[in-house]
Amino acid sequence: MSSDTRSIMQCLKEETQTLHTEAERQPFQQALLAGTLPRDTYADSLEQLYLVHRTLEAALRRHAPTVPAIAAVVREYQFQEIALRSDLACFGRAVEPVEALPPVRAFLDEIEATSASNPVALLGYHYVLEGSKNGLKFLADRVRKAYQLDGAGTAYLDPYGSEMRSRWAQFRQDMDAVGFAPDESRRIIRAACSAFEHLTAMYRTLGAGVAVAS
Ligand code: HEM
Repeated sequence: MSSDTRSIMQCLKEETQTLHTEAERQPFQQALLAGTLPRDTYADSLEQLYLVHRTLEAALRRHAPTVPAIAAVVREYQFQEIALRSDLACFGRAVEPVEALPPVRAFLDEIEATSASNPVALLGYHYVLEGSKNGLKFLADRVRKAYQLDGAGTAYLDPYGSEMRSRWAQFRQDMDAVGFAPDESRRIIRAACSAFEHLTAMYRTLGAGVAVAS
């Protein structure tokens, strides 16, 4: 019998804390914060994130009509495919064809496998991408300055503007209100950890050779 009385959102936060620290410490993120990440490397990351969001969001849309937990949590404004298309256009990148880097290819394959076998666990991936908006928001100004963007180009980093806190609160409330079975919770947490691992591997690949001030 499980004696874990924590809510799903508490579990997700606690079980992924170490992975978050590792993601945040990547030279890619540090260079982005310092305004020294090469413009092309940043545009490359948008291409890879586009592949991830496109795949995950299509899977969530497919399952929303038949998986009540997905219908209860996922909202149209959370989807980032269009924001990424718009940012990519600002960086002069065409959306197709984009080749997935190996860690992203592995992540896309895993999303498809989860979608086929255990769709409720897609919410673990969605949690990581939705939660990442909290930190990425602080990067938007740095990116605008570093790449001399005149207003457009950071839709992905700060999609909610002043609504960030209320939308994050809504997401937390919706997740906690679902009442996942223990097995579902375990699968969602495992998917969240896996999303962090794949994305950190992606940032590690993209940031290889990026200099970081000590
Ligand atoms: C320099 C980069 C980053 C910084 C400075 C940063 C910072 C933060 C901060 C301050 C929060 C807490 C917001 C709050 O509780 O009010 C947060 C939450 C979160 N971030 Fe990041 N972050 C960064 C990168 C990332 C990346 C790359 C990912 C995903 C791969 C990520 C995923 C998350 C998630 C899932 C949460 C929600 C945690 C929770 O359950 O409360 N972050 N981040």
